[in-house]
Amino acid sequence: MSELDSLMHAIRNRRSMGVARLKPDPVPKELVLTALEAANWAPSHGETEPWRFTVYTGEGRRGLGEAFAEAYRLDAEREGSFKESSFEGQRKRVEASPVWISLGLEPALRPDGSLKMGLEEEGLALSGAVQNLHLVANAQGLAGMWLSQGVMVHPHVAAFVGLDAPHSRLFGFFVLGWPNIPWPEGERRPLEEKLCWVES
Ligand SMILES: Cc1cc2nc3c(=O)[nH]c(=O)nc-3n(C[C@H](O)[C@H](O)[C@H](O)COP(=O)(O)O)c2cc1C
Repeated sequence: MSELDSLMHAIRNRRSMGVARLKPDPVPKELVLTALEAANWAPSHGETEPWRFTVYTGEGRRGLGEAFAEAYRLDAEREGSFKESSFEGQRKRVEASPVWISLGLEPALRPDGSLKMGLEEEGLALSGAVQNLHLVANAQGLAGMWLSQGVMVHPHVAAFVGLDAPHSRLFGFFVLGWPNIPWPEGERRPLEEKLCWVES
């Protein structure tokens, strides 16, 4: 296979697989580090390299589960919808994936504390980093998914992962593990629907 063919294969076969599709088996640290090394090669305007990751595995996931549960409690108590079973569910949620990687943004700041680049551009750079991570994880046979809803982006969880510097933001978590299903086929609507080609 040519380099181009392998690259296109890797891109087309990158699949999102959530926690229900992951085995509980541990993932060797070197594989996670290789995927993160790929993430670190993402482009960023102004060479800000704003992506920040924290990896939670094994017993290290326990505190994260507690942060998810506390984030749920803070919102649910304010809304009057707190349920002990949901609190416990959030606490145990971390057990569903052997590896949790926080997807953090720490934008570059000027000496006066203002942003060096726009927040949007910094976020786009993080997105490229996550794509690299995902591609290389999948190329190693690892499944995973970007989770970006609810407690995954809650300010309490952001503080727990250490994203409390000015303008810092938590964009969610990437779960990573061995797939418990055959590798799924992807699907895309044709490029023609999204492409306009101007020639003259
Ligand atoms: C920024 C971003 C956030 C995402 N957040 C979630 C999420 O919270 N929950 C979820 O089930 N999938 C999430 N996904 C995964 C998408 O659902 C998935 O990429 C899409 O269904 C296409 O499938 P594929 O990645 O296998 O091609 C997210 C994807 C991106 C790019």
